Amino acid sequence: MSNSSSLVLECHQLAKEYLEGPQSVQVLSDVNLSLNAGERISIIGSSGSGKSTLLNLLAGLDSPSAGEVRIQQQVLQDLSDSAKARLRNRSMGFVYQFHHLLPEFSALENVAMPLLLRQACSVNDAKESARGLLERVGLAQRLSHKPAELSGGERQRVAIARALVTQPAVVLLDEPTGNLDQRTAQQIHELMQELSTQSDTAFVMVTHDTELAKSMDKVYLLSEGKLESQ
Ligand SMILES: Nc1ncnc2c1ncn2[C@@H]1O[C@H](COP(=O)(O)OP(=O)(O)O)[C@@H](O)[C@H]1O
Ligand SMILES: [Mg+2]
Repeated sequence: MSNSSSLVLECHQLAKEYLEGPQSVQVLSDVNLSLNAGERISIIGSSGSGKSTLLNLLAGLDSPSAGEVRIQQQVLQDLSDSAKARLRNRSMGFVYQFHHLLPEFSALENVAMPLLLRQACSVNDAKESARGLLERVGLAQRLSHKPAELSGGERQRVAIARALVTQPAVVLLDEPTGNLDQRTAQQIHELMQELSTQSDTAFVMVTHDTELAKSMDKVYLLSEGKLESQ
């Protein structure tokens, strides 16, 4: 089943402490996780338990106080900022609670953006890939719409298409359905399930919806700075 070559993400004894004035807050104290190619996990935990902090560390957007994160065998802390940015662009996708789409650009342009930033293919090829992904998320009729012209659920579909367009090793999702009504959240969730079974991309989804969490391969609870398998 799993072997070390299929490991896409690992963290060991990860800790994060925030210093606030004279007081320090230990948000994460000892987080361990290994994720294989194609594996889909969810992380649940109460508000303030450190879920976003953990995702930011896994993405290399923040530095741990102790421990390390490896993405495809590379220790994030060993990389320069530009090498980390390249690794993020090449190997990771992100979906947030609020879509973070660029308002001035169409759905098609937003989805093509990670490929254009990579400068590894032509503008036409990037747009073709983006069009293919938008069709897969059911938005073939919305290619030229700007984010403000789309519904909340449609914007999250665009955000998911953008996260997947580079065929990343891992997608990190921070409460991707937290801002949607229950029915739309369920639809977005089913879409993610469908897309994830069609690829080798691993998914780490933070949610406070325990029902949605259960449909992933494994559920972890973040509590008192530690991650526990449920
Ligand atoms: N930049 C920061 N500086 C100080 N404290 C922070 C910072 N970011 C988060 N925290 C604190 O860390 C804790 C966890 O926050 P967060 O990771 O956002 O939780 P969650 O996503 O689970 O709701 C909270 O108590 C929050 O106040
Ligand atoms: Mg959060």
